[in-house]
Amino acid sequence: MNDFLQLARDRYSVRKFDPSKPVSDEQLDKILKAAEFAPTAVNYQPVKVWVFKSAESREKLLSCTKMKFIGDAPVIIAVGAKAEGAWVRPFDQKNYSEIDASIVSTHIMLEIHDLGLGSTWIGHFDAPELKKLYPEMADYEMVALFPVGYAADDAAPSERHEKSKPREEFVKEL
Ligand SMILES: Cc1cc2nc3c(=O)[nH]c(=O)nc-3n(C[C@H](O)[C@H](O)[C@H](O)COP(=O)(O)O)c2cc1C
Repeated sequence: MNDFLQLARDRYSVRKFDPSKPVSDEQLDKILKAAEFAPTAVNYQPVKVWVFKSAESREKLLSCTKMKFIGDAPVIIAVGAKAEGAWVRPFDQKNYSEIDASIVSTHIMLEIHDLGLGSTWIGHFDAPELKKLYPEMADYEMVALFPVGYAADDAAPSERHEKSKPREEFVKEL
């Protein structure tokens, strides 16, 4: 197995963090670099990343999602997609902003794991409420929250982690 396949295989959704271990500025910088390196359609980058680090901003965010998702993570990252300024496929007017934001999010998710930290892609949050708290997000489709931290000693993959569709259902050769 090469390194990337190993990384892809090993990463799992961490939902319990060790509050005694902070995320360093250097680690956060690497996560943000991975986000910046992500490809987007025509490189338009119609994506914005917000970092929640202070007790106050984390507290505000907690009111929009469940404690069980964010837990004791010392840092939380939010990713938003802006339709305006994104590439639009001319054949069917498909706007690529959320696809671009998902690629950025995937880079964030994998870099977190590569650094020995843990996270879960959280889609279950009250985006309208978040936008009320942070009006600067109004023009964005909020795609993901990522709690970031060291996994607690007893964190473990859920049973869903091991489940993949059979190859013949997932892939079809034409
Ligand atoms: C787009 C997306 C949204 C998700 N939203 C949530 C969520 O709101 N809460 C949660 O606990 N897990 C969430 N997950 C995590 C998935 O449940 C998890 O990735 C999947 O069950 C596979 O498990 P694994 O990540 O441990 O391999 C989300 C994952 C993705 C990709």
